[in-house]
Amino acid sequence: MTEKHRVDLGPVQETLLIPLYGRAVESRKPRPLVRDPRATELVGSIDYDFAKFDGGRSLVGSVLRGMVFDHWVAQFLAEHPAGTVVEIGAGLNTRFERLDNGSCHWIDLDLPDSMRLRRRFFADTERRTMLSGSVVDGAWLAEVRDRPAPYFFVAEAVLIYLDRADARTAVRQIASRFPGNQLAFDTWGRWILRNQHRHDALKKTSATLRWACDDPRDIESWQPGIRLVESSTVGAQPDVLRRLPLPYRILMPALRLLPQARAYRLNLYQT
Ligand SMILES: C[S@@+](CC[C@H](N)C(=O)[O-])C[C@H]1O[C@@H](n2cnc3c(N)ncnc32)[C@H](O)[C@@H]1O
Repeated sequence: MTEKHRVDLGPVQETLLIPLYGRAVESRKPRPLVRDPRATELVGSIDYDFAKFDGGRSLVGSVLRGMVFDHWVAQFLAEHPAGTVVEIGAGLNTRFERLDNGSCHWIDLDLPDSMRLRRRFFADTERRTMLSGSVVDGAWLAEVRDRPAPYFFVAEAVLIYLDRADARTAVRQIASRFPGNQLAFDTWGRWILRNQHRHDALKKTSATLRWACDDPRDIESWQPGIRLVESSTVGAQPDVLRRLPLPYRILMPALRLLPQARAYRLNLYQT
């Protein structure tokens, strides 16, 4: 039997296993929201107690969240087939596998230990590059500049682990160096941070959410030129909602009333 990959990740970095597992679990369902054979394969080859995340709402929540970011990235690629997508805090995300159109360029950025794990499963190609580093230190931005414009920056479930000052630095340096491009990330409100010890998946790790943001429009004041183009709660983005199976469409309006759903927003900005 081939030996499984051991993981040696910091507390925040370990959270990358939650959305990976979410996509693998979803793929096993008879009518899955996403089919992600790569996630299934990775989960099967990593030595980790994934089952501890079973039963919580976060797994399907992470799938729904990913669908919204996929939708925005796909929309960008439809308009700019040879543009560059920058996946910040990529973890073991398989967005490139889901959305590659054969002509786009792609950068995956993550902290060194997460990137070491990622490199065991993914390889650089002419159009796809993995970079090791923090979104807060700007060294990686020069590498982005070497790829073709325009750019779409996506940070899914990443900035919430930074403190506000670092989240602001990260956003400001992207917006100031790449004006006129797009940036998507999620904001989690104070309600979630206050109740994070009850979060069904996070409480099984030692990661801490640090940046609370109740109003994604606040980010517009961080850097001249940033504009909030779209913001929705999970499962409420109209193009994604339309594609959901009927039971989800029926349930979603009620779920959206939950305080955790109201405090959790997916946002698309123009830089
Ligand atoms: C919840 S995981 C999300 C992973 C991935 N975005 C996904 O949706 O599957 C959080 C990710 O943020 C990364 N991360 C945390 N702080 C970071 C930083 N300062 N710079 C870059 N990545 C960071 C972690 O290593 C981890 O991969």
